[in-house]
Formats: sequence, structure tokens, C-alpha cells
Amino acid sequence: MSLIPVITVDGPSGVGKGTLCARLSAHYGFHFLDSGALYRVLGLAVNQQALPLDSAAVIQFARHLPVRFVDGKIWLEEQEVTDVIRTEQVAALASQVAVIPAVRAALLAFQQDCAQGPGLIADGRDMGSVVFKNALAKLFLEANATVRAERRVKQLKNQGLDANIVQITQEIKERDERDRNRSVAPLIAAADALVIETSHLTADDVFKQAIAWIDNKFAGRK
Ligand code: DC
Repeated sequence: MSLIPVITVDGPSGVGKGTLCARLSAHYGFHFLDSGALYRVLGLAVNQQALPLDSAAVIQFARHLPVRFVDGKIWLEEQEVTDVIRTEQVAALASQVAVIPAVRAALLAFQQDCAQGPGLIADGRDMGSVVFKNALAKLFLEANATVRAERRVKQLKNQGLDANIVQITQEIKERDERDRNRSVAPLIAAADALVIETSHLTADDVFKQAIAWIDNKFAGRK
């Protein structure tokens, strides 16, 4: 096990990982890695530069991804992209670049370097299964597609963005399909992860189950 405690939170889109991770990060005073944001920033950049998805230029760009996370804001070079990367259009682009094995390999070191003291909460699809295999505690959240679409619509509306439930449900299913069935690092729960089915749970319930699991792992480490 690595000396820096890493807690991984994986699961499909709209399952509530972001909410849980923000609470865990505040509770333990740990850093937070939003790995999905990396794929989103890359998807946006590839689209803005009109790079063909299968080109070597995409991989090269991923190796030196000019992304910065500063005070809750996300920057792509000199462009602030915090909000624009949250659109469904960018989510689809992210999911497309994420199937490219060399892109995933290119982003690996960046993600692993985020494991800094006092600890890290890592949010994504393959945090526990690939990026932080030796994490102290692993969580995997599940929820059915309809529930996730409803949560997503609420989230988008709160951000003042347009949202259509039928379209979002369809997009979530397509993204799930791609994320779960890709050949490299598919969305899958690590064997040693606690799987929480959140469809009928409140954010508080999920948080309580998560910290009970994590605290138990901390206790076992001493
Ligand atoms: O978590 P998110 O919705 O921001 O992720 C956007 C896309 O990025 C998602 O469809 C798949 C991809 N992704 C990934 O492949 N691996 C990760 N660790 C995080 C995200």
C-alpha cells in the first residue's frame, strides 16, 4: 500500500460521485482529483483544434495536457473552461477520447502524481481498478440510468443549462455502453471495492456508508 492514503470513488456518470467526493474531501481534508475533468478538457481541446480522434497529435497533446486546477477553476492554457466542460456535448467528446488506450496511458502519470499528503480522493471510472490499484479504500457507486438522468437534469438546471430528460437518458445510456465496454480500463468495480447501490439512498446515506468503510480501512492500517 502506498504511504499516502488514497480513496477511490468510481462509477457511471450521474451517480453522485462528485457530491460524495466533495464531502469526503472536506471531511478528511484531502486533495481531490476529478479525473473526468481531464478527459473533458482533452475532448474540448481536440474539438477546438479539430484534431482527428485517431491522430498521433491527440496522444501527443494528452502527454502534455496544458490543464491547471486553481481555486476550484479549471484552465486549458489561458482559457477558463470550468463551466464549458460540463456540457453534454463535451461529455460525449470526453468519452470518445477516453477509449483510446494511448490517451489513457498518457494521462496516467498526471493522475498518479496527484497522490500528495495528507491524502487524495480520486473520482473517476478506473481509479480503483487501474490508476490507484493500491488505494487504501475503494468505493464504487451504482444507480439505475433513469435515476441518474433525473439527477443530471436537476444539476444542469441548477447551473442554468438546458436539459431534456429523454435526451439525457439516451446520452447516459450511450456513454455507459462505451465506458463499460471499451477494451482498456472499462468501467468496472475493483474486486476490493465497496459497491453502493445509490438509486434509493440520499446523499447523506451514501456519505455515512462511505466513511464507515473508509474509517474501517484506516483502523486496519494502524
Ligand atoms: O466523470 P465524467 O462524467 O466527468 O467523465 C467524462 C468521461 O470521461 C466519461 O464518459 C468517461 C471518461 N472518463 C474515463 O474514461 N476515465 C475516468 N477515470 C474518468 C472519466
